[in-house]
Amino acid sequence: MKAIRLYETGGHDVLKYETLDDPKCSQEGVVVDVKSSSVNFSDSLIRRGLYPYMPDMPAILGNECAGIIKEVGSSVTHLKVGQKVIVFGIPSYCSAIAAPANRVIPLPDNIDLDEAAALPIIYHTAYHMMHTVKRIKEGETMLVYAVAGGVGTAAIQLAQLAGVKVIGLTSSEEKATFVKKMGIDHVINYKTENVVERVLELTDNKGVDLIMDSVGGEKFGDNFKMMNTFGHLIWFGIAGGQPTTNLLEAIGGSPAKCHAVSMFHLYGVINNPALFVPSMKVLIGLLAEGKIKPVIHERLDLAEAGKAHEILEKHENIGKVILNP
Ligand SMILES: NC(=O)c1ccc[n+]([C@@H]2O[C@H](COP(=O)([O-])OP(=O)(O)OC[C@H]3O[C@@H](n4cnc5c(N)ncnc54)[C@H](OP(=O)(O)O)[C@@H]3O)[C@@H](O)[C@H]2O)c1
Repeated sequence: MKAIRLYETGGHDVLKYETLDDPKCSQEGVVVDVKSSSVNFSDSLIRRGLYPYMPDMPAILGNECAGIIKEVGSSVTHLKVGQKVIVFGIPSYCSAIAAPANRVIPLPDNIDLDEAAALPIIYHTAYHMMHTVKRIKEGETMLVYAVAGGVGTAAIQLAQLAGVKVIGLTSSEEKATFVKKMGIDHVINYKTENVVERVLELTDNKGVDLIMDSVGGEKFGDNFKMMNTFGHLIWFGIAGGQPTTNLLEAIGGSPAKCHAVSMFHLYGVINNPALFVPSMKVLIGLLAEGKIKPVIHERLDLAEAGKAHEILEKHENIGKVILNP
């Protein structure tokens, strides 16, 4: 099998394209022929040594893929050879994968494998921030950072299904035009516009009910100027660096606003089958019915994993980058 392995953290050249022994099927698992592996911003953070949960080296990168089962262990009864599946939570920048049956999610036949590979991380992240952490209601408004990216475009689609308005932040006119075509309510180019002023203008000075901030960094404190009473800020990424804002001062500065702040990490959902299993069913159902459709920016060969990371790091992607082994 082919795989992208990492022996040390660093630039794109630390991603090594290698030939490894084919994986062996365990009694309780399956072997999957990987057709599509999804690239996430967290893969780039791991490669650079910036992620809070670093794997042991050498490591195969990636966390989600889709493919076709080619071998089934003797004690697995609900999966069969030839079936389309998602494999989740197992290193996935590779052409074949051995996985325990509980990490393998069967797919309806009509589902495109690139879209299936793109689904779990970005849609679960947006879905659980909206419906588990905030419990957002129809008619409310949310502000989404990096709205043209993977999580951002998933959030737009899930918001439309929930009757929630979206104000999105992005860095270019091309990305803004794309999300407008998706039907976003408002988009702000944070490079050329004053974000706080525009958000207040768009919400009659009330601010938004939910903020999904994956950027953090120096401007994190501005979030508290753009939230409605009982507004909820969910921080879930460090694309712009660690924030330095004093949270107690920020919340205590306007006590009557009753602001809430949460940290979100998908591992909290994955490690809780009572949350993860039902939402996976919901999301696969929505995909099969065509009610959600992952936006795919580019499909690359597995060997081009470095180029895939570069696309995300240079802010070039609209939606997801997929690796096809
Ligand atoms: N906590 C969790 O469980 C969880 C789960 C999934 C993802 N995330 C986080 O959510 C974010 C989105 O993930 P994704 O995989 O869908 O990536 P993505 O949004 O497709 O790609 C990253 C985007 O972030 C924006 N960005 C803003 N500041 C940036 C900076 N300083 N450097 C690079 N990019 C910057 C860029 O969009 P603009 O050009 O529009 O600024 C860029 O295109 C990432 O920060 C990721 O770590 C967290």
